[in-house]
Amino acid sequence: MDTRRFLCFFFLTLCIALALLFTWARLPYGPPYAGDLLDCSTNSAWCSSKNRLQSKPPNPTRRLRDHASDTPHHPLDPLTLPEITAVRSILSSHPLFASSSSHALHSVDLQEPDKSLVLRWHHGDPLFPRKATVVARVDDMSHVLTVDLTTREVTVEDTASHSGYPTMTLEEMSAAILVPLMNADFNRTIVQRGVDLTDLACLPISTGWYGKVEENRRLIKVQCYSAKDTVNFYMRPIEGLTVLVDLDTKQVLEISDKGGSIPIPKAANTDYRYSAQKPNQVLKLLKPISIEQPNGPSFSVEDDHLVKWANWEFHLKPDARAGVIVSRAKVRDPNTGEFRDVMYKGFTSELFVPYMDPTDAWYFKTYMDAGEYGFGLQAMPLDPLNDCPRNAYYMDGVFAAADGTPYVRSNMVCVFESYAGDIAWRHTECPITGMQIREVRPKVTLVVRMAASVANYDYIIDWEFQTDGLIRVKVGLSGILMVKGTSYENVNQVSSPENLHGTLLSENVIGVIHDHYVTFYLDMDVDGSDNSFLKVNLQREQNSPNESPRKSYLKATKTVAKTEKDAQVKLKLYDPSEFHVINPTKRTRVGNPVGYKLVPGGTAASLLDLDDPPQKRGAFTNNQIWVTPYNRSEQWAGGLLVCQSQGEDTLAVWSDRDRPIENKDIVLWYTLGFHHVPCQEDFPIMPTVSSSFDLKPVNFFESNPILRTPPNVEADLPVCVAAASA
Ligand SMILES: *[C@@H]1O[C@H](CO)[C@@H](O)[C@H](O)[C@H]1NC(C)=O
Ligand SMILES: *[C@@H]1O[C@H](CO)[C@@H](O)[C@H](O)[C@H]1NC(C)=O
Repeated sequence: MDTRRFLCFFFLTLCIALALLFTWARLPYGPPYAGDLLDCSTNSAWCSSKNRLQSKPPNPTRRLRDHASDTPHHPLDPLTLPEITAVRSILSSHPLFASSSSHALHSVDLQEPDKSLVLRWHHGDPLFPRKATVVARVDDMSHVLTVDLTTREVTVEDTASHSGYPTMTLEEMSAAILVPLMNADFNRTIVQRGVDLTDLACLPISTGWYGKVEENRRLIKVQCYSAKDTVNFYMRPIEGLTVLVDLDTKQVLEISDKGGSIPIPKAANTDYRYSAQKPNQVLKLLKPISIEQPNGPSFSVEDDHLVKWANWEFHLKPDARAGVIVSRAKVRDPNTGEFRDVMYKGFTSELFVPYMDPTDAWYFKTYMDAGEYGFGLQAMPLDPLNDCPRNAYYMDGVFAAADGTPYVRSNMVCVFESYAGDIAWRHTECPITGMQIREVRPKVTLVVRMAASVANYDYIIDWEFQTDGLIRVKVGLSGILMVKGTSYENVNQVSSPENLHGTLLSENVIGVIHDHYVTFYLDMDVDGSDNSFLKVNLQREQNSPNESPRKSYLKATKTVAKTEKDAQVKLKLYDPSEFHVINPTKRTRVGNPVGYKLVPGGTAASLLDLDDPPQKRGAFTNNQIWVTPYNRSEQWAGGLLVCQSQGEDTLAVWSDRDRPIENKDIVLWYTLGFHHVPCQEDFPIMPTVSSSFDLKPVNFFESNPILRTPPNVEADLPVCVAAASA
């Protein structure tokens, strides 16, 4: 009923669900067969070996690692806990902060050294001076600062040209959802809607930007739900009630209530927790399944961040805004044994999630989750055995709270080898050739995973590396829909279903249509930094009647993009192209330029009006592919300061400068898109939907790089039988 209670509701999504998941494994009624995994009979020495028994499910509390004495080893290593503490202390004595009446740090990140320096750095070399980039609000003004950790010098950058505001802090989001309770009208409305104030759960919803009245105030819209009888309060909206709050002054500016006649949907069947399911109704569909690695994993993580697996090597770090950042990805050439550059840096740059309902309580829901909420800040600890398999390695994130104090987000990223029973390559001969050939190679990959729960929605981001040189980036969508309350209980009551703006999912619950766009920054460095973007366009050629019995065939025409506008690509099914990043100065034995191609997937495109305010802010989704010249200040596709931004600092604006991109250090941008028309299966929580795109070698290797890999044989793979079924 007090402050703590409301805070608790907010952190429900952020904490409790995961805490419960963690508890599962230890409860007697835990997930099916959890205990059976260890009961092996000894039909192979490995099955009873000490190593195997020690590789039992990691205890989530096992390595609450103390980061107090962490030191950086690599120029790209994130700020360590002691370094964040140092930034805080340097800033506290800086005049800007010391003389302020209020200040908050919205982000504290490593300022990466210049790319040219990093490229020249070798393991064992001294590190470059460590610097932090800090985005702060001081007396209600935004500042971007550089803090030199060696000299303790602070440089203040000019942010006057930015319309937007920094990523919200978790602290101010928690504070914002309590603000409406200071207002007697709000309390009265809640009670009138039949909701006890003790059952209230509220969310801080970013407002977007819709015109001048919103200028010069940092705003948030608070909407509330009833958490009575369910943890899944998202399914019980107090529809139509929106409270506009000033984030800086913590004042209620406006209460809009247009949903008085809409009932609050029932709590029945909304709980998604295993512990809340009736024991006699639990669906045990599967027998246990697990992965055995009798000789241990094939990867190592050196100095906390350098991942080495099979023929790959890359630097991996958690990031408060991007989630994870993969840097300096290199693959070993099977012929020369040398590591070759593939990608300097790749990460989730921005998301854009517009809802398709123009009414009062919905029109503004057009989230940009990375810049507004912090994709990494919202990534909670992963759940061992369920988020990642038993053979996973976990990496912690170290971030700064609003007052600059560092904190640890444990088990935020996992790394594991995956064998999904897939085939890396194969061929069999049929009897007519008289040859008895059956050559097959299994496909094992290395997955880097994190999952962000941005309030209701969960995004799973995988970077998957293959031994054949391919990188697959996969986005999975799960979690809980943002739903709308309605008086309808059955579609037969609806006279014009298209005006529902969604699908009736349950009595009084509409799943509103929305899109998800996830834009990736891909600084490809294919065998070096200077690359070109090549389109290989496939077109139909008509044959003349006497030329061939055929009427038509396809011809591939290659064009190198000279400037940025040549590389603004809208995908077209009937005018297809391949998209290559090539190194024009490096050729294979037979003369093809070495390259990597982007293979699109998840190809939904935004259909909003280009002049619609959300689309202007989300203009980085106007094309699926863009290529820009490398510029260290152009990394966030929606701009550096995204909250309430007006779209003047997006990828679309940068690209329209039409700078030269041929044989230059270039950055490739790709947006995975999803249209989501909800269906009943998405209630009360969504089965994961996923899409991916590939970065695939194209004339990069002289021939199949995994030709000489061995097949699996029985002796290498012990079979351990569960005691119960032995
Ligand atoms: C509104 O209700 C909350 C919770 O009962 C209470 O703490 C707060 O004081 C109330 N606000 C007003 C203005 O009465
Ligand atoms: C680098 O990016 C910033 C921000 O977009 C821009 O102001 C600057 O002109 C760019 N520099 C070049 C050389 O394009």
